[in-house]
Amino acid sequence: MLNTTAWNRLRYGLYAPLYDAVVERALRRARREALAQVHWRPGMRVLLVGAGTGLDLPWLPRDLELHATDLAPAMVRRLARRAEALDRDVEAAVMDAEALDFPDGHFDVVVMHLILAVMPDPARGLAEAHRVLADDGQLCVMDKFQADDRPAGLGRRALNLATSAIATDITRRARPLLEGAGFVVEADTPVLMGSLFRALLARKGQA
Ligand SMILES: C[S@@+](CC[C@H](N)C(=O)[O-])C[C@H]1O[C@@H](n2cnc3c(N)ncnc32)[C@H](O)[C@@H]1O
Repeated sequence: MLNTTAWNRLRYGLYAPLYDAVVERALRRARREALAQVHWRPGMRVLLVGAGTGLDLPWLPRDLELHATDLAPAMVRRLARRAEALDRDVEAAVMDAEALDFPDGHFDVVVMHLILAVMPDPARGLAEAHRVLADDGQLCVMDKFQADDRPAGLGRRALNLATSAIATDITRRARPLLEGAGFVVEADTPVLMGSLFRALLARKGQA
């Protein structure tokens, strides 16, 4: 029996050849709005977690040290090809977002686009993002979320059985997840389909 992480590796490997055709155009504006919320500075060290085929790459400032990780080798291969085509220097690696192989406080920015709703344990992924971020580091999130102030109702939970089997969970709540991992939310912007898709910018809270 496959666990969820093994299933995600398998299915995203299968989705990889079709991913750009399905997602690129539909999410372009949302990802640009999310990335525009980050306070960029030249030379920042940036980690894209669950980076997929690298659809964020065209919208990132050029003078950055870029690292990208994903669970699915087929996604990482596509991302490496996109980086080359865009003439971007990106250190790309297969890696589980729940166990990042980077030291504490290593990054200025962590980008998590469309992964918190996919990975089995988003709290674990956020704890890892928190760990690898510098004290003044920024977390850039864009994903589908349930409203923060109430759990998903019966209808949404029923629909979630189908959406999570194919693609993604639609019952997760952004602020409880981010704040639970020690982040302070600075910006929270609805970016697509009403407030289903939101772009959040968060900083590490002071311990
Ligand atoms: C919906 S895609 C988003 C890709 C990309 N971030 C984007 O915005 O287009 C979800 C990605 O997360 C990856 N993924 C799923 N679980 C993961 C995990 N535990 N660790 C790292 N990547 C994971 C999948 O392989 C897939 O590429």
